[in-house]
Amino acid sequence: MNKKTIRDVDYAGKKVLVRVDYNVPMDGAAITDDTRIRATLPTLRHLLAAGAAVILASHLGRPKGGPAPEFSLAPVARRLSDLLGQEVLFAADCVGPAAEAAAKALRTGQVLLLENLRFHKEEEKNDPEFARQLASLADTYVNDAFGVSHRAHASVEGITKYLPAVAGFLLEKEIDFLSRAVESPPHPYVAIIGGAKVSDKIGVIANLLTKVDTLIIGGGMANTFLAAQGFATGKSLVEADKIDLAASLLKEAKAKGVKLLLPVDVIVADRFAADADSKVVGADAIPEGWMALDIGPASGAAFAAALAGAKLIVWNGPMGVFEMDAFARGTTAVAAAVASSGAVSVIGGGDSVAAIEKAGLQDKISHISTGGGASLEFLEGKVLPGVAALSDK
Ligand code: 3PG
Repeated sequence: MNKKTIRDVDYAGKKVLVRVDYNVPMDGAAITDDTRIRATLPTLRHLLAAGAAVILASHLGRPKGGPAPEFSLAPVARRLSDLLGQEVLFAADCVGPAAEAAAKALRTGQVLLLENLRFHKEEEKNDPEFARQLASLADTYVNDAFGVSHRAHASVEGITKYLPAVAGFLLEKEIDFLSRAVESPPHPYVAIIGGAKVSDKIGVIANLLTKVDTLIIGGGMANTFLAAQGFATGKSLVEADKIDLAASLLKEAKAKGVKLLLPVDVIVADRFAADADSKVVGADAIPEGWMALDIGPASGAAFAAALAGAKLIVWNGPMGVFEMDAFARGTTAVAAAVASSGAVSVIGGGDSVAAIEKAGLQDKISHISTGGGASLEFLEGKVLPGVAALSDK
């Protein structure tokens, strides 16, 4: 990475404001997945060992610009405290008297988590005065929030106008792995793109078509490509206004010499339910009144064969409705093939990450991104404002 990192700064006696992405899934006040908290521990341990006092700032969810108890980060402070093995102080606001007093009293080796940044609408507006107030709490700034680095928000972008700004270890690792997918990747390079809607992934597909040797398309979005080939799709999810675009992407792949693999068979169901009637049919033979909810076994085998021998694999989006066991086999087959491929493997997007975890194969993946939207924008070839704003090496 061509940006400075926490290795380049002396933190002894400094107060450092670290933007983290603790936007974790919650069930009431219970954190259901703490991956994003754990992912920041190397940075926090490094800063604490280097003699810093650490002030953490994050958003949680999408509160509409005012305090709302269900979006409080207080439960995250407790979990972080368990994970770090030390007390994590909590300030009831991220700016103003509560934050200022807590930051002022903070000593070397201590950790303070500020309340949800998005309780102030100025955060998402990238308001300069709000960014200045946040900056005034610390001597220096670290971005370790890859998941929100595609947002030009005050704590991500604006604050870098007021404090020296470098990357934390998580941000560095994310950029290092994701860069391999878009900058001089090793070959053979295979990308797998899935998920419900092609409209969410157009930019990614268009960019990857200029990089990969093989592009595998599965999941609900494959139906729009099947429709573009003139196949009947029954009651399957198809984006009618994207059929022409799918056709032109197929043409473009051909023109570029990219092997584009679509499902050759699918599992169809008579309704969208875990206990629906289901059967395997050819991708060109989806019966009237049925809907494709997973790729079929022949597709799983064909996709696995395309992954064998790859040097680099990038995967974003599941192959079917993997939350329902009856329609999870295609995604599991792809997960197993990625895990056993021997390739450098990079997985992004909440659903594919959940799928690899459901298959228990996460330890076999080179890099599982903590970013959803951010990893997609990166794969589209966009510059992330939170990364661009950091000091150059
Ligand atoms: C995410 O979960 O993708 C990030 O935390 C960003 O959240 P946002 O989409 O609400 O900005």
